[in-house]
Amino acid sequence: MTDSRDTASISFTGLYTGEVWYRNGLSPRFLSTRSGAGLYHAMTPFESASRWLGGNNLRVVLVQRHLLMDHLLEQLIREAGVSQVLEIASGMSPRGYRFRKRFPQVTYVETDIPGMAQRKRRELEAAGCLGDRHRVLPLDVFHSDGERALETVVSNNFREGEPLVIITEGLTSYFTLADMEPFWQRLAALGDRFPGSRYLMETYYLPESGVFSATVQRLALLLGRLSDSTVSFHFRNDEEIRSCFGRLGFSGTRVHDPADYYELLPVPRSRRQTLVRIVEGAIG
Ligand SMILES: C[S@@+](CC[C@H](N)C(=O)[O-])C[C@H]1O[C@@H](n2cnc3c(N)ncnc32)[C@H](O)[C@@H]1O
Repeated sequence: MTDSRDTASISFTGLYTGEVWYRNGLSPRFLSTRSGAGLYHAMTPFESASRWLGGNNLRVVLVQRHLLMDHLLEQLIREAGVSQVLEIASGMSPRGYRFRKRFPQVTYVETDIPGMAQRKRRELEAAGCLGDRHRVLPLDVFHSDGERALETVVSNNFREGEPLVIITEGLTSYFTLADMEPFWQRLAALGDRFPGSRYLMETYYLPESGVFSATVQRLALLLGRLSDSTVSFHFRNDEEIRSCFGRLGFSGTRVHDPADYYELLPVPRSRRQTLVRIVEGAIG
């Protein structure tokens, strides 16, 4: 993949997830969009059929991942005293808005590719939410220098020597493992300047076999076609994640299964195996 690759075709998916957050009471109305609402209505018959037939659907998986990431971020703020957050590919996600309200001491920098970042900035600005501690900036994970590069955004916006939480939600599966590895390696390298940092992302396990597995694969193929990307399943189990992240320079990796949080968090339950895992990589 080259620095010049245009991945804007993926951005519409952020309007759909934005609507899912809104419909689940996780987002203010101003982050819901007309296109997102249209996609939400169009998807409803498939989502309902899939939940009824398979016990799981995209909306369940999305809410599981979002609430679990919120929980882990909250723990890092409350228990490890982290006060700097960089959210990459934040789309229309309300997390920055919600966390800034609850934790005003936190500096929260949201980023996305330019068009989406501009759209988000406009909405948050109109709602009077932006300021010195809450910014929206352009960042492209495939730019390794210039103003959209991870390294530039980090240098210009965060205090060195203090830990940082970096989040990507709903991004990495649109690319192959080979595409993502150089980016993860660059993240891990930030540990020298920001010791004690953490990276939160999600990944999906393909069910081993059967109708459920075939359905998930077909959905992934369809999503790839619609977003002009290579929707990929990168790992088959926790050990593969730990081994990959260790090789790329992370100092430790924990893998969280939403099923382990059913008693603790108001996450919707899957009737079958859970597909999503939240990965918490230690940096530095
Ligand atoms: C499925 S959406 C997820 C949005 C948000 N994180 C959420 O969960 O609601 C994927 C996001 O990735 C962004 N994106 C696409 N290509 C990107 C890139 N090269 N670098 C950073 N973000 C990118 C899109 O604009 C979109 O907002």
